[in-house]
Amino acid sequence: MRRVAIGLIGWGTVGGGVVDILNRDAALLRERCGLDLWLKTIVTRDPSRTRDQRTGATVATDLRAILDDPEIPVVIHLVGGTTVAKDLLVACLKAGKHVVTANKALIAEHGDELFTLAAHQGVGIAFEAAVAGGIPVIAALRDGLVANRIESISGILNGTCNFILTKMEAEGWGYDEALAEAQKLGYAETDPTLDVDGTDTAHKLAILARIAWGGRIPLSSLTIEGIQSLTATDIASAKTLGARIKLLAVARNRPEGLELRVAPTLVPLDHPLASVMKNANGIALQSSAAGPTLLTGLGAGALPTASAVLADVVDVASGRYQATVGHYGFFTGLQPVTLLPEAEENTACYARFTVADRPGVLAAIATALSNGGASVQTIYQATTTHDRAVIEVMTHPLRLGSFRQTVAAIDTGGLTVAPTRVLRKWL
Ligand code: NDP
Ligand code: HSE
Repeated sequence: MRRVAIGLIGWGTVGGGVVDILNRDAALLRERCGLDLWLKTIVTRDPSRTRDQRTGATVATDLRAILDDPEIPVVIHLVGGTTVAKDLLVACLKAGKHVVTANKALIAEHGDELFTLAAHQGVGIAFEAAVAGGIPVIAALRDGLVANRIESISGILNGTCNFILTKMEAEGWGYDEALAEAQKLGYAETDPTLDVDGTDTAHKLAILARIAWGGRIPLSSLTIEGIQSLTATDIASAKTLGARIKLLAVARNRPEGLELRVAPTLVPLDHPLASVMKNANGIALQSSAAGPTLLTGLGAGALPTASAVLADVVDVASGRYQATVGHYGFFTGLQPVTLLPEAEENTACYARFTVADRPGVLAAIATALSNGGASVQTIYQATTTHDRAVIEVMTHPLRLGSFRQTVAAIDTGGLTVAPTRVLRKWL
């Protein structure tokens, strides 16, 4: 049996998960893959931190302990951020090591540079763990669906946000309390702003889109909205209307170009993504031959993420990764992709109009919507309080830019007494 020495950089949440799985299931991996994965050296910032884990590895703070060891061909890179983490990854590539990383920010923001360097060095960068934790979505898109043109990807890709939304809706927790618990459970990024403002989801969407459409996806071209502005009223309204709010990443390949967005979205309760709760992620793919494919599983946390890391380690250590990945466009040879601006999005919408409770207002709103070309699917007037009425509208799919203009005209035209809340609704 071939023994493969592995270096690990970053002994934190996910690094700890890797150590746990190797401690528990190295024999299983030997049996299944014919590889004896040997965690030889760990480089971490603070080796003295209590970790409650046993390992036979040498633990060091100096990266040279891995770089200068010719016995180590594969390095697991589990450090977050895009500064020091990038330097560490680049140093590994320059030393001729294959790298397995879970760092989606690095891949999304610096993928072009990193893949080019890796190709130049004749090594691979594997990143299954970077998107949707334990769900093998990258392998599914890259390999399982290789004979398909991908039509759309929609997904819940951030465990922290999904955990917060679940706790707020199902258990009435406050936002801060739910975020603190997600941090405690190891789901959140070191800077949780990246989770809640949608950036982390955008990183993952950009990576998936890059694989699906073989194009360069600059993050600046994505529409990104997070969950911070959601209120208990939004969550309760969605529930009343038979939907649940999810932070949804959507990529749709339309004849005019690629639509890409991350935004809180009302998902009808009968759609499978509505049932994806807590730290779970879910991805619905629509492709030319396989049709609809749904993947769900745990999207964050030590063990689910380490599961994906070790799948990559096996792929790289066995040579499978190098044998296939070099042929794919997402590695280096990217095609130009037309990205559509936000106004051109085609989406159904939810709007909550707060109006004075007087005759004719409902009719005036309906007329304004009709004049603006918005086709109403449902309209509902909730209980009136303090001379105010709340009118909730669900539209059929429409051009987002036009709908926003219509709503702005309604607000500025004096029909409403508070700014109208608009959210996307899943088709
Ligand atoms: P943690 O903060 O728990 O762990 C990061 C580790 O990196 C820490 O142990 C830290 O060391 C170490 N580190 C920091 N700087 C250095 C350095 N200069 N040299 C060596 N080690 C260093 O993060 P996670 O494990 O949660 O995340 C790691 C990566 O995985 C991130 O990119 C994250 O986005 C990604 N990821 C995380 C998931 C999760 O559920 N947590 C899921 C999917 C991806 P020390 O502890 O010794 O100070
Ligand atoms: N912070 C990320 C999340 C980790 O909550 O989904 C998994 O990528």
